[in-house]
Amino acid sequence: MRYRRLARRLGVFFASCALMCAAQSDAERAGAKLFQRYCASCHGRDAAGGPKAPPLVTERVKTASAEELGAILKNGSAKKGMPSFARIPEQQREQIIAWLQRK
Ligand code: HEC
Repeated sequence: MRYRRLARRLGVFFASCALMCAAQSDAERAGAKLFQRYCASCHGRDAAGGPKAPPLVTERVKTASAEELGAILKNGSAKKGMPSFARIPEQQREQIIAWLQRK
C-alpha cells in the first residue's frame, strides 16, 4: 500500500519534470534558430562576438535577468548600433533569451 502511494508520487514527479524539461529545451531550440536569423550577423553564429557587436556568451548576459535582456531586445541601443527587435513577437524574444541563458 505504502509503496503504491510512493510510486504514484514518483510518477507525478517524473511526468511533470518531463513536461517542463521538454518545454524548456523546445524554447531553447527555437531560440537558437531565431538567433541565427536575427542576431548572428552581428554577434557571431555562436554568440562569441563579431566585428559589429560584442560577445553574448558572457557572465553578464548569463546572469542578467530575463527582464533586463528583454528590454535590451525590445528597445535596442540605437546610438551604439544594437537595433530594436520590437517588431518580432514577444514569444520569439523570450525564446532567444532562453537560448542565451541556457546552461
Ligand atoms: C546590427 C548589429 C546587431 C544585431 C543584428 C544585433 N545586435 Fe545585439 N548588440 C549590437 C551592438 C553594437 C551591441 C552593443 C551595444 C552597446 O554597447 O550599447 C549589442 C548589444 C547587445 C546586448 C547587450 C550585451 C551586454 O553585454 O550588455 C545583448 C543582450 C544583445 N545585443 C542581444 C542581441 C540579440 C539577442 C540579437 C538578435 C535578436 C541582437 N543582439 C542583434 C549589435 C547588434
